[in-house]
Amino acid sequence: MRLWPAHRQAQPRRHGFQIAHQFADLGPGDEVILPAITFIATGVYPPNVGAKCVFADIDPRTVNMDPEDVARKVTDRTKVIMPVHIGGYPVDMDPIMEIAEANDIIVIEDAAHAFGGKYKGKMTGTVGHFGAFSFHEVKNITAFGEGGIVCTDTDFGKYFNQARFCGVDMSQQIENWLYDVVALPTTTGGPQVPGNHSSTEIQAACLLGQMGRLAEIIRIRRERAEYLSERFEGVPGLIPAPLNTDEIESTFHLYLLQVDPEVLGADIREFKALLTEKGVTNIPHFAPLYHFSLFDQLGYDTNAIAESCPNAENAFWHTFTHLPLYPLRDDQVEIMADLVIETAEEIRGS
Ligand SMILES: Cc1ncc(COP(=O)(O)O)c(C=O)c1O
Repeated sequence: MRLWPAHRQAQPRRHGFQIAHQFADLGPGDEVILPAITFIATGVYPPNVGAKCVFADIDPRTVNMDPEDVARKVTDRTKVIMPVHIGGYPVDMDPIMEIAEANDIIVIEDAAHAFGGKYKGKMTGTVGHFGAFSFHEVKNITAFGEGGIVCTDTDFGKYFNQARFCGVDMSQQIENWLYDVVALPTTTGGPQVPGNHSSTEIQAACLLGQMGRLAEIIRIRRERAEYLSERFEGVPGLIPAPLNTDEIESTFHLYLLQVDPEVLGADIREFKALLTEKGVTNIPHFAPLYHFSLFDQLGYDTNAIAESCPNAENAFWHTFTHLPLYPLRDDQVEIMADLVIETAEEIRGS
């Protein structure tokens, strides 16, 4: 395993995902399977190089990618699968790796939320062929607002230095110069032209400083999630977040709150509106990506895609939201729990 502090500036192409996709030799006509519900950053690189995003439906319990739908959507053009550990809760990776192995597909984990999580004894982000983590300002730890790490246990790790900085290869020289500049090798032969994904030493120092706090931050978040789930358990209409199991450790980046609209008597839109009135802010980042104009503008048949993702549609329109876990004081977490329960009871009583 090689770890390499990656990137980054404001452009999506300066990105750990770009590097991983380049090693996978992603190009025009290729397909990338990603979950319907994620942040748009998961889905911007493939169309940038003429590849197609194929949206897999979600598992309603976790809102993560559903491996069974991934299997249905594999074609002979699928080059990459991108599981996203939404909110830090690990995706069920084993079936995804099996599909990938059977079909010669590269798995790039979008572990933006999942630095420090575990899946069956392995760190999230290290189960697939590549994993990319984010240290953007809202993440569990940050590198002065932007930053990331990409990792791999494939032989491509040997080329991370060149991938990071324009292909500059200090290990060999051309005649009369200090270094050579090389292309990146790829799974299908390549070559790919490297970009410039340098970050600053100050960012690296900030991140290294925070690494020491990570376990404590995750512990606090976990305790808050456990507290919220305990409070919400048994409240008619509320479905508490899944927590850790023997096989899975979340980073508790976000708290997944779902409602059962039939029991509650309202769906998540009405519920969120009432919560907002009471001052409880939900996290509004994660919609099915194909609802954004971008995919219409790129010529995707977004109605057909929506039909092929019924769980994502139901979750988006009716059942799920994310609540914050940190940095809040304990009394604020308690107030949030009180207000969520009070809102559910008000709706049911009305
Ligand atoms: C699921 C997901 N993937 C990728 C990213 C992109 O991370 P970065 O902004 O560090 O490139 C984010 C950022 O918020 C995210 O939420």
